[in-house]
Amino acid sequence: MAEELLRIRGGSTLHGEVPVQGAKNSALPLMAAALMCSGETVLHRVPRLTDIRTAGRILEGLGCACRTEENTAVIRQHGLSGSEIPDAEMRRMRSSIMFLGPLLGSAQECILTMPGGCELGPRPIDLHLDAMRRLGAEISEQGGRICCRAKRLRGARITLPLPSVGATENVLTAAAVAEGETVLCNAAREPEICDLARFLNQCGARISGAGGGTVTVAGVGTLHGTEYTVMPDRIAAMTWLCAGAAAGGCVCVSGAVPQEMETALSVLEAAGCRLRIRDGRIELRRTGVLRGVRYIRTMPYPGFPTDDQAPVCAMLSAARGTTVMEETLFESRYKYVGELLRMGADIRISGRTAVITGVPALHGADVSAMDLRGGAALGIAAAAASGETLLRGLGHIDRGYEDFAGVFNSLGCETVRLPVFSASTEKTGCTA
Ligand code: UD1
Repeated sequence: MAEELLRIRGGSTLHGEVPVQGAKNSALPLMAAALMCSGETVLHRVPRLTDIRTAGRILEGLGCACRTEENTAVIRQHGLSGSEIPDAEMRRMRSSIMFLGPLLGSAQECILTMPGGCELGPRPIDLHLDAMRRLGAEISEQGGRICCRAKRLRGARITLPLPSVGATENVLTAAAVAEGETVLCNAAREPEICDLARFLNQCGARISGAGGGTVTVAGVGTLHGTEYTVMPDRIAAMTWLCAGAAAGGCVCVSGAVPQEMETALSVLEAAGCRLRIRDGRIELRRTGVLRGVRYIRTMPYPGFPTDDQAPVCAMLSAARGTTVMEETLFESRYKYVGELLRMGADIRISGRTAVITGVPALHGADVSAMDLRGGAALGIAAAAASGETLLRGLGHIDRGYEDFAGVFNSLGCETVRLPVFSASTEKTGCTA
């Protein structure tokens, strides 16, 4: 497919309502878990994303049938035919690691390579592998291929050294079909963990305590398919609210779960936005100036989400005053900052801290997304900036947002998706 970019004409206030898409970070582990379920699993509100297509291909490679139509994925499992995830798919997205627990649980084996995905600094999988060892897996590595085998998975007491979301999800899936009871301490408490536990329980698992630091899983041996609706995407919801806050106006997201976004929403309020929250609708109004927020620190849930870091920094880059942002989870999550500087932002990075000094205005520029949330951040800055921005690296944004351009247009920010070649032709006026 030809490389594409977004041409965003900024500077207008935003107005409108956006229905929130299904959560990528929940749909992916749910799809992986579906391979453990005999018969048919139907997932609704699955976002149409490249990562979802990658997960579908991995499922098919393992012998499942996976059909997606609009926002529904139907996965049929009548016996697996493989246990290896191709290196190309592993490199394409970090979430391919989510197949580890389900494959070990149902095929007694999983062969994989180091996962790729957004380059946010080193993203090891040691916690995933250690946890699988605790459940009885033997793990060997040869030439970059990691082979995990377990004739029988046995429940165990596992304490994670840090509350990794992915490692928690792999423990939940593998332990669901293990023999005996697993107690997972220092588990991640993200809402996506609760969504996975709810789904697995509907498939016959016996998981309790999800959403808290200690989760107990009573192994049940086998799981069956079910029909389930993926939770709404709290990160996408925050992205649209940040765009409204940055550009000004009134943006409403519907179908969200505001209780799962409290820390993020409190930052919007601290920045001077007015929020009205009712029945899953979050309405943000920003008429006055946006103010810097003294100090924000990313933390595991219920702290401020690392995935909201870039959108919020972009939003505050034209606020009045200074914001100090500390990123505690990932080392290289400020790659977008260099691009924001091209748009006139004043941001200094020192290690994991970014100091954002608000400028009176941003201006459009030719910029590139380096990762998913950094790309969304550039889109937010472009909506607030005067003039036109060409946003390249659209592939990153398509991994996590169903229709970024469509949402921006619906809010009144003129955004066009163009092949890279015709965009540069238009800009230079060169037709040769
Ligand atoms: C998930 C989300 C991602 C989000 C992140 C933190 C998905 C698909 N992705 O990623 O969007 O930014 O949670 O909320 O759900 N770590 C290790 N060893 C491991 C695993 C993790 O050291 O084996 C470290 C990581 O480098 C990072 C921290 O633990 O510093 C948290 O990572 P983790 O919670 O595992 O994030 P992901 O599950 O990869």
